[in-house]
Order: sequence, then C-alpha cells, then structure tokens
Amino acid sequence: MVTTLLAQVSFLCKALSIHMLKNVETRQESPMAVELPESVMAWFKGKDLRLHYWVAWTVLVLGFIAYGYFEFLVPQNCDNIQCAVDYFRPDVSPKPADPFVPLYNDTRRIAVCLVGGARMFEITGRTIRKHLLDVYNNTDVFVHSPLDMDSHKLTLLAGRNLRAAKIFIPTPQAETTIVNEVITSWGSPHGLQGLLQYFNLVEGCYGMVKQYEVQYRFKYDWIIRTRVDGYWSGPVPDIAQLDPNYYYVAAGSDFHGLNDRFGMGNPHTSGAANARLTLLPLMHQRGLRKLNSESAYKAQLDISGVPYKRIQVPFCVMTLRQEAYPKPAWGLLVLSMASRGPMSGTYCRPCDKEENATVSEQVVNGCMRDWDWPGVAAREVTVCDPRKPWSTEWRKIAAESYSIDVPGEEIPSLSSRSVLQCIAEMQDFQRQWDVWESPPIEQICAQAYRER
Ligand SMILES: *[C@@H]1O[C@H](CO)[C@@H](O)[C@H](O)[C@H]1NC(C)=O
Ligand SMILES: *[C@@H]1O[C@H](CO)[C@@H](O)[C@H](O)[C@H]1NC(C)=O
Ligand SMILES: *[C@@H]1O[C@H](CO)[C@@H](O)[C@H](O)[C@H]1NC(C)=O
Repeated sequence: MVTTLLAQVSFLCKALSIHMLKNVETRQESPMAVELPESVMAWFKGKDLRLHYWVAWTVLVLGFIAYGYFEFLVPQNCDNIQCAVDYFRPDVSPKPADPFVPLYNDTRRIAVCLVGGARMFEITGRTIRKHLLDVYNNTDVFVHSPLDMDSHKLTLLAGRNLRAAKIFIPTPQAETTIVNEVITSWGSPHGLQGLLQYFNLVEGCYGMVKQYEVQYRFKYDWIIRTRVDGYWSGPVPDIAQLDPNYYYVAAGSDFHGLNDRFGMGNPHTSGAANARLTLLPLMHQRGLRKLNSESAYKAQLDISGVPYKRIQVPFCVMTLRQEAYPKPAWGLLVLSMASRGPMSGTYCRPCDKEENATVSEQVVNGCMRDWDWPGVAAREVTVCDPRKPWSTEWRKIAAESYSIDVPGEEIPSLSSRSVLQCIAEMQDFQRQWDVWESPPIEQICAQAYRER
C-alpha cells in the first residue's frame, strides 16, 4: 500500500520535474534567460516555500527521495518511471509452468535408455527431451554414459522422470578368444575395443532398468534404447500402433544385420536385444563367426527366437566424422540434419555442402539395400558432402533445422558456462535423479575445461 503510494508520488514528481525542466529549457533559449537566477533564488526563499504546508512538503520530499531511489538505485538499472512502477508492483500472478500434455494417449510405463557420449548434446539434448522423453505420460529416463569432456552437457536433459544415471570412467573390456572369433572390428572406427565398450553401454543401461524394476517392484511395458547423440526431428513411434510380440529396430543402415542405433520392445524382446555381451558365448557355441555390430545384433534376436520389424524413426545420429565423398561403395552415407526424413538413425550433421534433390536421390538409390541404405525414400532426405570438418558456422546452419524441430527454443550454448556454474548446475541436475552414480561432479566439470 505504502509502496504503491510512493510510486504514485514519484510519478507525480517525475511529471513535475519534466515540467520544470521544460520551463528551464525554454527560459534558457529565450532572451529572458537572464531572469532565471532570480526566479530560482525565489524558490528558496522561506516565504515562497510556504513551509507551513508541511504535509504537502513532506509528501513532495519523500516523493523526490523515492524517485531518486527508483531512478538510480534500483538493481535492474531502471531508467524510466514505468519501469520503477513495475518494479514495485507485487507480482500477483506468477506464470505457472505449462502443465505437461503428452502427445500420445497411452499411460503404459516406458523406460528410455540413453547410451553413449554426449558429444554434440547441445544440438541433440533438447530434441531427445521433446520427441522421445516427453511424448508419453509415463516415460522414465535412464542414462549410461562414459565420462569425457562432454559429460557436463547432460544437464540439458533436465526435466521430468529422471530415474537412474550412471557416468563412469571406462575400463577396457576383456577381448577373450570367444569375442575375437565371434566379432570382427572391420569397419568399426574404434576397433574391437570400441565395439565392446558400446555393447557394455547398451547392456549396462538395460541392467540399470532391470535393477530399478526390482528396487521399486514393478515392470515396464516397453523399453526403448537409443543413443545420446541422436538428433530427433519428430516424435518416437506410438506404442499403441506396435505389436508387443515384436522387437522394433530402425529401418535401414543394416550393414548385413539390423540397425543397432535404436530399438524398442517389451521387457522380453528387449532382454534379447540388449544382451550384447552375455549372448556372445551362446553365439560362439552356435558357430557364429566374424560378425559386425549389426549382424551380431540380428543374430542375438534370431538365437533368442525374437521376431523383429523395421520401422522408420525420425532421428539421425550426429557425427563429427569426415568421410570420403562421393561415397565409395563401402563408405558411410552422411545426411544433412535438415532432411525432413525420417532419417532412421542415419549419420547426419549441420551441412554446409548439401546436394540438390536430384543428386541426393541418386546417391541414396545407389546405396546397397542390406548395407548402407538409409531406410527411407530417397526424395525425403538431403545428402551431405562430409569431406570437410564441420563448418565454423555450424550453429547458424543447425539453427534453421532446430527452429523447426524444437519450435520456440534456441540451440543452447554451454561454452560460456564457467566451472563454478557447471558445478552448480550439475549438482542441481543430479538432485533430479532417483539414482545417480558418477565420479565427483567437480571432476566432470573439470574434464570439460581440461581439453579445450
Ligand atoms: C484416451 O484414452 C481414453 C481411455 O483410455 C479414451 O477415453 C479417450 O477417448 C482417449 N482420447 C484420445 C484422444 O484418444
Ligand atoms: C498421467 O499419469 C498420471 C499418473 O501417473 C495421471 O494422474 C494423469 O492423469 C496422466 N495424464 C494423462 C494425460 O494421461
Ligand atoms: C544438381 O547438382 C548437380 C551437380 O552438382 C548438377 O549437375 C545438376 O544440374 C543439379 N540439378 C539441379 C536440378 O539443380
């Protein structure tokens, strides 16, 4: 009440002072300007001040003090009276957070397992949140990620239903005779060890889901597993349209097996699909040899008697890799992230050298169906020339797609975050999880700055 009054008074005073200033200005400009000192002096004569109107004067003086306070001392550097009035007006209606409205009318319990390093998570993070984690009412989030300089970017996942996160320092996986015979590292950028690390990420995340189920005594209806470096341009398929007797994988990028960048199914089929390390001995026993990641994935489902289907899934895997172009027969296809897709988990990047529709169609149709074909009609995607490293303008290029796929949001920038801010935000993020396992937060943030 008092403050409102003060604000009103200060408004009056401002109006008055403007009026006075105007008078002063006009006087200065006029030939009568010499009269000014006299008239100013007159203001200070006790008689003219009429001090016996003390109520009015008190109000006036308080008004000036209030005005000065608002004008010069208010923290937000208010420089007009409207701002000052707003500043003191109590915030009667704090804007409530938008209530969550799921896209699909399905309340079954779903676990989403996100695995891998958070390399370009400033581009992918919020798309995963929007198109994968916030489309069903009951989606629980699990993350299994090796500690690296990008781990701190995971804070972009902040939001609903964070269940269990495990950020760990990778240790070498045993390359046993069985592993060496069943798996080939041919075509794998990080060799056999890289494949085993990936298998461990996948199976470990599934283990986290199972452990959570045991701890809280319930079972998920569906388990979705995909990668942290996926850029999502549309919502994950609706489970109401899927048959729980099948395991669903992303179409295309088969590499003689099954695309292993995305999979979803019930706990039974998921069990077979995610047992990437534990099924190796059985595969060995069945005489399977020299499998790449994709054919091992297919073999797991086959020997477990789990039928599968390929579906188109609207995401691509952000890659920093440079590839030969025009694409050699056994090369890797890279799409522009601006492709309308669905890209079904094909590699992509913010592309500064896109092919036109004619060439893109030729390239895609030239892919081998059971190898690198992206699983999508050629006219739906734009091929990228990936010979050069990412453009220094990548943020600007990516922003065009981003504004379509995540309307109303901008690609977050984490590069200006200080170590202290990083630690504070990581700590806040950590508190949002039911289960959190990681090296000390300080180490995660220190890692982010060490390698710059
Ligand atoms: C959502 O599901 C409820 C019952 O589960 C049903 O009554 C309702 O019509 C559904 N709404 C839509 C839009 O499908
Ligand atoms: C979402 O689930 C909660 C309980 O888990 C339920 O109270 C709520 O009504 C559900 N909302 C929708 C839109 O289905
Ligand atoms: C597409 O690009 C190719 C090669 O860059 C060019 O020869 C062709 O004329 C272009 N087609 C159209 C329709 O622009």
